[in-house]
Amino acid sequence: MTSTSDRPTSSIHDVRQAGINPNHWYVVAQSSEVTTNPIAITLWNRSIVLFRDSQGKINALEDRCPHRQVKLSHGVVKGDRIECAYHGWCFDGSGKCVDVPYLEENQKLPSGKIQAYPVREQDGFIWLFPGEKKAESIDLFGIPEWDHLNYIATVSVIDCNAHYSYLIENLMDMYHGHLHDNWQAWADPVLQELQETSDRVDALYQAQSYYKIDKIWSISQLFFPALRRLHPEPLNVSYVYPHWVSTLGNDFKIYCLFCPRSLTSTRAYLIHFTSLNAFWRLHKLPVPFRRFVKNRLFGSAQKLLDGLVRQDVLMIEEEQQAYLNNPQQRGHEFNRTLASVQRLIRAQADLEEN
Ligand code: FES
Ligand SMILES: [Fe+2]
Repeated sequence: MTSTSDRPTSSIHDVRQAGINPNHWYVVAQSSEVTTNPIAITLWNRSIVLFRDSQGKINALEDRCPHRQVKLSHGVVKGDRIECAYHGWCFDGSGKCVDVPYLEENQKLPSGKIQAYPVREQDGFIWLFPGEKKAESIDLFGIPEWDHLNYIATVSVIDCNAHYSYLIENLMDMYHGHLHDNWQAWADPVLQELQETSDRVDALYQAQSYYKIDKIWSISQLFFPALRRLHPEPLNVSYVYPHWVSTLGNDFKIYCLFCPRSLTSTRAYLIHFTSLNAFWRLHKLPVPFRRFVKNRLFGSAQKLLDGLVRQDVLMIEEEQQAYLNNPQQRGHEFNRTLASVQRLIRAQADLEEN
């Protein structure tokens, strides 16, 4: 067993072994995934059951029945309670046992509670706060474009068998565009500025972009490389711990919302927005029609986004495997953004440990 003094200091400790700082809002599901059928999720080794009660309210409980330790997510929702599949004990949204169907007159309900987590439904996602601090004291990383009528969303789910640091490094390192050939929206990035604080890293690259959605046909550039015309644009990428956001010029916005599951497994949601800001005539149309258009076009960049994600996941999982085979091996890194990202991960993980 290692004592605390044997533990490496923060400056050298291995980023691939870093934990998470739980005092943040993490994204654990898409809104549409959570219904009155309970679902099981994992956030940094914690098994959690999510369910929507009869009022539509989201609840998040430890996924463990205190009777025989089986998963509550096998159960069913009845009104505002969840009923365990095994013997039918019922729990309310605060984690309190409120019914044991075969309780005898002289017996009392168990008094202990299972853990309930602060949870919010906002901008199309379920956000969960696993920390000890007061959840209300920590800002939730919002996505204003989600409900905005001028933005069309596409969501790609990233599931990778790798530590979350590999994914965020991929997202912050714009030089990896090489991998995507000419299917990404930018080319020839050059890192111009790098800023680092205790809770975020901002990198500004100058790049070439074909992405300018100012005519109806410009959207077709996404799908037909021959139609693309490059022009210079600033490319901003930010790690706003624990999530990521990027902008390219005025029309391109993309987010990645993180749900680290364990040391070697990460789920994340990549959300790409196509902007309709340039089409002022469209904005004069009635709101219900604009909402209809927005909803109909939801997911229109799905194939493209999923294809890019597949390429990234292959690389990220190989990095993880190489690390597991030889944890001492280190590559050369020329992009200083990654050193900043690793420092931030270590600092946030240390906040949790101390
Ligand atoms: S194990 Fe859940 S009610 Fe018995
Ligand atoms: Fe990529």
